Amino acid sequence: MKKLLFALLFLIGTSFSIMAQATDKSTVCPATLFGTWRLDMPQRGNVMLTSYFIIRPKNDLFEGTIVINNAVDLSFSKPRMEGDEAVFSTDWNRDYRLKMTGDKLKVVIAHTNKPWEEGAAYRVPESETRPPTIIQLPAKTIVSANGLAQTPPMGWNSWNHFAERVTDSIVRVAADKLVSSGLAALGYVYVTIDDCWQGKRDLNGNIVPNEKFPNMKELADYIHARGLKFGIYSSPGPLTCGGYIGSYGYEEQDAKTYASWGVDYLKFDWCSAARVYTTEQLQATYQKMGAALKNCGRPIVYSVCEYGMGETWKWGPQVGANLWRTTGDIQDNWKSMSDIGFSQSSLAPYAGPGHWNDPDMLQVGNGGMTNTEYRTHFSLWCLLAAPLMAGNDLNAMSAETLAILGNKEAIAINQDALGKQATQIVKQGDIQIWARELKNGSMAVGLFNTGLTDVTVTLNFSDLKLVGKQKVRDLWLHKNLGRFKSKFNAKVDSHGVVFLKICK
Ligand code: GLA
Repeated sequence: MKKLLFALLFLIGTSFSIMAQATDKSTVCPATLFGTWRLDMPQRGNVMLTSYFIIRPKNDLFEGTIVINNAVDLSFSKPRMEGDEAVFSTDWNRDYRLKMTGDKLKVVIAHTNKPWEEGAAYRVPESETRPPTIIQLPAKTIVSANGLAQTPPMGWNSWNHFAERVTDSIVRVAADKLVSSGLAALGYVYVTIDDCWQGKRDLNGNIVPNEKFPNMKELADYIHARGLKFGIYSSPGPLTCGGYIGSYGYEEQDAKTYASWGVDYLKFDWCSAARVYTTEQLQATYQKMGAALKNCGRPIVYSVCEYGMGETWKWGPQVGANLWRTTGDIQDNWKSMSDIGFSQSSLAPYAGPGHWNDPDMLQVGNGGMTNTEYRTHFSLWCLLAAPLMAGNDLNAMSAETLAILGNKEAIAINQDALGKQATQIVKQGDIQIWARELKNGSMAVGLFNTGLTDVTVTLNFSDLKLVGKQKVRDLWLHKNLGRFKSKFNAKVDSHGVVFLKICK
């Protein structure tokens, strides 16, 4: 019996050690993986993206770099073996899985925000990759104001709803719908193609759109023919956030190309500039394109997109910017929207005619929030004198969404000529009151409830430095509520707003 138990223990022990060996083995990176591999991966719009994987041994594992389009290099992070797959991440929203199949390297790329991609890389000499060229930046100067965007720019942008799926026809439909819905007449005039329109540079270095955009000039003409304006997107880095070609080293040339197409608005997104410039160089980098736009022969609104880095609000106007992002990307949910929107108070002094804080584009109508929350989103953006860039599918817009985006009285607050951004004047638990002064001496006030239950909010006129009876109008009910002495009470729904004008 004892013998049997011994044999059993021995057997268990051996199988454990075999298993351990097997796992051990799989934590060692096979030498066949080391070297330089080239992966040609077609992107949407028939753009080829070439990546080199330079893989070196490190202890039993590996380390390495990906060089994309000979311009951006990303180091591997968290390299590990999972079975016979070499797995690592990069700080660019991607996870990679590599596996030898014959003499090729199978590459699977998992993105956080789009479907995974797969390709086969082949071995090349490391000399085929080049280090990125370093471009000199200009000395600090002042780019004089272009006189545009005297009120916050309004329009539609493809990113929040269509992202990399944007096409010429989607943009044309959006332009048509802005007009037929009546939104254009309310001020939504900029129709902007965000990322993913770029193809390659021709032999003269001119940027050529990808096959989804057969003719940019004709698209611009189509938009202009409807009384609208045309916006486009690029990056000061070699690549855009979506991995398409940026304006790195081609700033002047691109600005001229945009002017020749009839572009009226440029969103210039930091993205891969982080690979070639430091954050201290943000101002010089944006100044370079600001000057290029100023000299391109066409008035172009300049939208700086740097996710709130580098205190851009302090120098934005000096580089010719009309707006700059104050935050990371907005997501279509209450937390993201409210975290962004309710954190903007301290930036109010930096907004004014010609230069605006941009807490990112609207998510109204994209489906991730309730209509109550979208009304809060829209009211807050109006109070903040934020650019109003609709980001929904205008072709499938509900009546409620149209009523929110098309609230004339709310838009009038946003577009008030004084250009004063609201500040938070009361915060008590879940209650917040924000207010801004208007050109004719009236005030716009938002009573917000960020909590989970409905509450009654009291607005004391003394908090607005107003004395005597005040005439109160509700900007969502489109109704005068009467004259009130010293204070006004209102029930505010959970996550809701009561948006008021205290009329002069
Ligand atoms: C960044 C910007 C977004 C959008 C995408 C496009 O994330 O902040 O607004 O332009 O890039 O890739």
